[in-house]
Amino acid sequence: MLTAQTETMNALDLAWVRSQFPALSQTFKGHPATFLDGPGGTQVPQRVIEAVSDYLKRNNANTGGAYTTSRHTDAMIAGARSAMADFLSCDPEEVVFGPNMTSLTFAVSRSMGRELGPGDEIVLTQLDHDANISPWRALEERGVNIRMAEIREDDCTLDMEDLRRKITKRTKLVAVGYASNAVGTINPVEEIIRLAHERGAMAYVDAVHYAPHGPIDVGALDCDFLVCSTYKFFGPHMGVLYGKREHLKRLEPYKVRANTNAIPNRWEWGTLNHECIAGVAACVDYLVDLGRHVNSSASTRREAVLAAYDVIQKHERGLMESLIRGLLAIPGLKLYGISDPKRFDQRCPTLAVRIKGHTPLELATRLGEFGFFTWDGNYYALNLTERLDVEKDGGFLRIGLAHYNTADEVDRFVTALRKIVG
Ligand SMILES: Cc1ncc(COP(=O)(O)O)c(C=O)c1O
Repeated sequence: MLTAQTETMNALDLAWVRSQFPALSQTFKGHPATFLDGPGGTQVPQRVIEAVSDYLKRNNANTGGAYTTSRHTDAMIAGARSAMADFLSCDPEEVVFGPNMTSLTFAVSRSMGRELGPGDEIVLTQLDHDANISPWRALEERGVNIRMAEIREDDCTLDMEDLRRKITKRTKLVAVGYASNAVGTINPVEEIIRLAHERGAMAYVDAVHYAPHGPIDVGALDCDFLVCSTYKFFGPHMGVLYGKREHLKRLEPYKVRANTNAIPNRWEWGTLNHECIAGVAACVDYLVDLGRHVNSSASTRREAVLAAYDVIQKHERGLMESLIRGLLAIPGLKLYGISDPKRFDQRCPTLAVRIKGHTPLELATRLGEFGFFTWDGNYYALNLTERLDVEKDGGFLRIGLAHYNTADEVDRFVTALRKIVG
């Protein structure tokens, strides 16, 4: 009889998935490379590599010129924007390209800051990456009051009662992560957006960590802004911002005179990273192909993206269950975040652990020698590591699964970790 795990693996066609990513077949010092560092940046499919280099080979030009390569560049950017619009479920003109999530968030905060002053409040959370904290804290110099929503230490979820209390009629913005890049918690963003709107505040969602693990529908969420980074979901190093059309039109960005007032152009300053934008289109194309691989009747790009995430989620869930089971059997290991399998739909397969007697850096270094690539430290989720009092002791060891990981990698990883800690 097939186990549930085998069935989902077949649905995913892991051999096909892995054949798309050239980095996965590497070996280091005789060990197969096992990439458990997806939360820091995932590997990319061959088509993304080719799209970046083909653009540079054939169409490298600035935009808006009256000649072929420039026109191709314009068309390529429009195509990538439309691909990202289908990925996020919005209109292409609501998609803004930028260098990374952090820069885009500073751009929005600078612009919103022009309208805010003493008496206005912004609500943030202790669970968030610093890129969704410091850009808003920068507005304290204008007299804006920042209120931090607490977490529940036992399972590293948001304290929703506290969050609800902190959103008042003075709140102008609630900025929240879709999922924690440190402990994997998926936040109830739909509810948080509704709470923000009930009090007349805007909602800004950091979907950087969630994007490789689940489908994003900005229309259904009804968020005002949502930001993600394509290098976390199989694309090149770029950031993408979704903004509701009315906000992108009304807010005043700092920009140069040559930028038109049309959206999204008024939010995209200087020359963009064209070659990476070519890679962004290819990364959405990969997900579409993956979706059609499992559901050939997916007719639109959006339907295919949803089909891809359906198998991604099932596959990651199977891997996460066996990884957590294996980790919890290691003496002295503490897993931070949700550990009850009944609640696994509230977490991503991103696991933060500490093991008695070993620093996270020591563990990551030893694991690296065996070809297992993990992270140690705070990954900029600094409020959380301080709040949990692990910052001074090196943070966590973070093990991040992506859909290209295998059951065999999980087994070998648990065995290696057991051996390392004796
Ligand atoms: C949850 C989360 N938010 C924001 C960021 C910052 O993204 P970027 O590197 O695109 O600025 C990261 C990067 O690790 C992240 O994991």
